[in-house]
Amino acid sequence: MRILFTGGAGKAGRHVIPYLLAQGHVVLNVDLLPLAHPDVENRLADITDAGQIFDALSSYASLGELDAGAGVPKFDAVVHFAAVPRILIRPDNECYRVNTIGTYNVIDAAVKLGVRKIVFASSETTYGVCFADGERKPEYLPIDEEHPTTPEDSYAMSKVVNEVTARSFQRRSGFDIYGLRINNVIEPHEYEQNFPAYLENPALRRRNIFAYIDARDLGQMVDRCLKTDGLGFQIFNVSNDDHSVSLTTGEIIERFYQGVPLKREMGKDETFYANAKARDLLGFSPEHSWRACLNR
Ligand SMILES: NC(=O)c1ccc[n+]([C@@H]2O[C@H](COP(=O)([O-])OP(=O)(O)OC[C@H]3O[C@@H](n4cnc5c(N)ncnc54)[C@H](O)[C@@H]3O)[C@@H](O)[C@H]2O)c1
Repeated sequence: MRILFTGGAGKAGRHVIPYLLAQGHVVLNVDLLPLAHPDVENRLADITDAGQIFDALSSYASLGELDAGAGVPKFDAVVHFAAVPRILIRPDNECYRVNTIGTYNVIDAAVKLGVRKIVFASSETTYGVCFADGERKPEYLPIDEEHPTTPEDSYAMSKVVNEVTARSFQRRSGFDIYGLRINNVIEPHEYEQNFPAYLENPALRRRNIFAYIDARDLGQMVDRCLKTDGLGFQIFNVSNDDHSVSLTTGEIIERFYQGVPLKREMGKDETFYANAKARDLLGFSPEHSWRACLNR
């Protein structure tokens, strides 16, 4: 597929894009910064400027595309990752503005230009645990896509709004628009760098509901979304199958989640961030557990 990917120079995109290239896709990265990759074209553009996004989506992706002499090819899909990726980087209102207006512009342009597959990054923070003032426990475990999304912070608010925006664009267009509630993204080098501290002090992972998503497995998830048609508007949790700490499910509940209702029996190491919907509807099957990466 010919894909326009926003935010591809960032932490997640620099792993997801190589995964997509390996599956045979052609990718144009639209970002404020270039992604240094020999097989990726970059367009430096700002998602908060609708004109720039309409231009990127209706232009050649590379000089090479001039050769066919058949005019500008159409994009088959848009993957939208560009964002201010958490609170306390930019002022709260700026985070909210960039993320909501940017997402409106990207989906609006994609729909108006007839791009029938749109995948966008939402976030685990929508569940309100990650950036709560003090400790907020999940309303039940495991957290699935039906769990309430009432966060307190501007970043997560922007992601909840983006899901509403996407749902409305889907209703008008009938296209496939899939939102990914991505858990904490872990790059391959971060297992050795960060996980020893998590194993030593599991409380460090409480705000992530003890879950994580390997950046390469996130690539698989995006590819599965691109390959699975006809689901309309969907929201998917995205996480690996296991916890990011060495405690068992029972031990974590005992230490952190006493009194939180359990919806069903859970496996010994099973993530609290349910990924069953992605498995069932998309065939998502994460491959990179921290246990294998650290030989545990
Ligand atoms: N990293 C995580 O753990 C995590 C977890 C859940 C959701 N997410 C979401 O996944 C997506 C990617 O996250 P990431 O960690 O790679 O973030 P990142 O900050 O590393 O990358 C985001 C990219 O977006 C670009 N960008 C920002 N504002 C832009 C603008 N106005 N116009 C064009 N490009 C712009 C940045 O230059 C950057 O390259 C984001 O939407 C983020 O909210 C990330």
